[in-house]
Amino acid sequence: MQNAGIAALGLNWRYLAFDVKPDDLRDAIRGAMTMKFIGLNLTVPHKLLALEMADELDPSAVQWGAVNTLRFEARDSQGQWRPLGHFAGDVPGPIRSKGFNTDADALIQALREELDWQLLAGAGVLVLGAGGAGRVAALRLASEAAGILFLVNRTVAKAEVLAAEIRKRFPGQEVTVGYPKNKVDLVINATSLGLQAGDDLALDPKQFSLRQTRALYDMIYRPAETPLLKAAKAAGCRTANGLGMLLHQGAKALEIWSERPAPLGVMRRALESEVYPP
Ligand code: ATR
Repeated sequence: MQNAGIAALGLNWRYLAFDVKPDDLRDAIRGAMTMKFIGLNLTVPHKLLALEMADELDPSAVQWGAVNTLRFEARDSQGQWRPLGHFAGDVPGPIRSKGFNTDADALIQALREELDWQLLAGAGVLVLGAGGAGRVAALRLASEAAGILFLVNRTVAKAEVLAAEIRKRFPGQEVTVGYPKNKVDLVINATSLGLQAGDDLALDPKQFSLRQTRALYDMIYRPAETPLLKAAKAAGCRTANGLGMLLHQGAKALEIWSERPAPLGVMRRALESEVYPP
């Protein structure tokens, strides 16, 4: 997806994947910066750690409490910090890292596009999972003034902590830990259940029927259809998997690095053929 986007923008960059242990993350970031990388994407479990390591944080990283994108920057001749991609020849030192979060907005964009979700305001939403992904989803939905949020997590204490954070930061937001008794508009799976064949369903069908929701969004994109998505379809819900969120977080990262609009169509096609080979 990124290399296709980079090529379409005519940039002489390459996007590469590296395995880095959490204990080595600080060195890895410093090394990439020293070698004048344009930036980095980070995934589990680095998104929280990087929050402490970035020299500068964009409001998106502060607000959603996680960094999935780093951009390296240097000062231009006017003394303004600019992305390294901006400099044609030698990059003047020093270089700094700036952290962003592109996951939170990507979720909302995917919901709008794929579930035809024009109006989040006032909606009832059940969020499954209170790990990194669940936390960002629930906070972002609260910022969108969802009508009521229900939080369900295997470790109930984590859902309680998240509910307390939401009440503090978004005092108008109604939030409850546990399954809704009545209908909701949307269920979001932000747990890892469904990634492995034979996983339990991410929700307890004895406590919540999929007939109680209009739509279901599963952040998992591989397999394309988790058992939860299959059950939701059978119950007549609108459904979408996490590919749209993956696309939009990546497209936004490319825009942050390049300061140009991302070629979304090209990136979507590359992503689909990579994740779902014909
Ligand atoms: P991510 O950043 O992808 O959200 P995470 O922070 O490890 O990763 O969160 C994983 C989520 O999946 C959590 O909500 C986790 O529940 P716990 O907080 O109780 O660990 C949930 N999860 C993972 N395995 C699970 C399982 N076997 N049953 C129920 N929930 C599970």
